[in-house]
Amino acid sequence: MKRSYKIAVIPGDGTGPEVVREGLKVLGAVAGVEGFKTELVDYDLGGDYYLKTGETLPDATLDELRQMDAIYLGAIGHPEVKPGILEKGILLRIRFELDLYINLRPVKLYPGVETPIRDKGPEEIDCVIVRENTEGLYAGAGGYLKRGTPDEVAIQESINTRKGVERCIRYAFEFCRKRAKEKKLTLCGKTNVLTYAFDLWERTFQELSKEYPDIKTDYAHVDAICMWMVKNPEWFDVIVTDNMFGDIITDLGAMIQGGMGIAAGGNINPQGTSMFEPIGGSAPKYTGKNVINPLAAICASQMMLNHLGEQEAADRIEQAVIKVLQENLKGLSAGEMGHTTSEVGDLVADYCVKASGG
Ligand code: IPM
Ligand code: MN
Repeated sequence: MKRSYKIAVIPGDGTGPEVVREGLKVLGAVAGVEGFKTELVDYDLGGDYYLKTGETLPDATLDELRQMDAIYLGAIGHPEVKPGILEKGILLRIRFELDLYINLRPVKLYPGVETPIRDKGPEEIDCVIVRENTEGLYAGAGGYLKRGTPDEVAIQESINTRKGVERCIRYAFEFCRKRAKEKKLTLCGKTNVLTYAFDLWERTFQELSKEYPDIKTDYAHVDAICMWMVKNPEWFDVIVTDNMFGDIITDLGAMIQGGMGIAAGGNINPQGTSMFEPIGGSAPKYTGKNVINPLAAICASQMMLNHLGEQEAADRIEQAVIKVLQENLKGLSAGEMGHTTSEVGDLVADYCVKASGG
């Protein structure tokens, strides 16, 4: 543990700055109580910066990001910028260039939070999705032929390397081993149709499973996973999958844990700088209204501290979030919390400090 951390802050677009402000408020509060330091470096990236400069992410900035202990991101996406430019230019570029090959997304229903799934509660909804984050359909392989003509062909290929698949699956096994739960790892694929890509995934999964005899393994097709995450979420402990399927099932996961207001994720390079973010978007229609739920961003800061080795600070945030959910919030959606964005941040920060009798 270093106890002094240089953190890049990218508030980004829309409601990003509002939720990041609350996340940093909470971070500051736990740093004070737990006695570690943070050096925050702000980066003005996003839609406004792009419209002003024509740049998404300057190379020099990218090089600075590599030197950080962690990156804390709000949201990327601007109504006046064509979809794809900022996502690819900032978010995906950071994921690829920093080789953040794991996208870790916990799906945990906290007590008192409403889930759309009848008869299921915190006991049943508690799994973690390990999404491969640098390959698959996201690799950008493909192209057009005769674009804009009646004979147009568009090809988008899924790239799966043995190295990329293996390191992702190994991370999932190791993560599953450390997690104090059922110790079951489910591979989510589509071996009945995508017979090349998921053959590689399945063979790698089976080979690695021999090194982890303490972990139960299971396989399910992605369509069946969608069905069971709704019908029997308690069947899952850790799920490992490729980039595209991971993108889809983590949105499903976010909904069953109470929505985008609470869902956070980490883009992780276990050997390098990692990036943490609320998984919802920039929510332009709520921008500047002080109504957006900052808990997802606060949970992202909790994941960041966990990753940096500040376990006690991370636990403190989680307990404070649980308390706010149980005692203060009326709902999790924007405008329905019964409190403003900044009030929710104040409450969490307060509980973080009070828990130590301070
Ligand atoms: C996510 C987002 C991104 C993705 C978009 C914004 C490029 O949906 O983090 O899940 O598809 O990975
Ligand atoms: Mn997504």
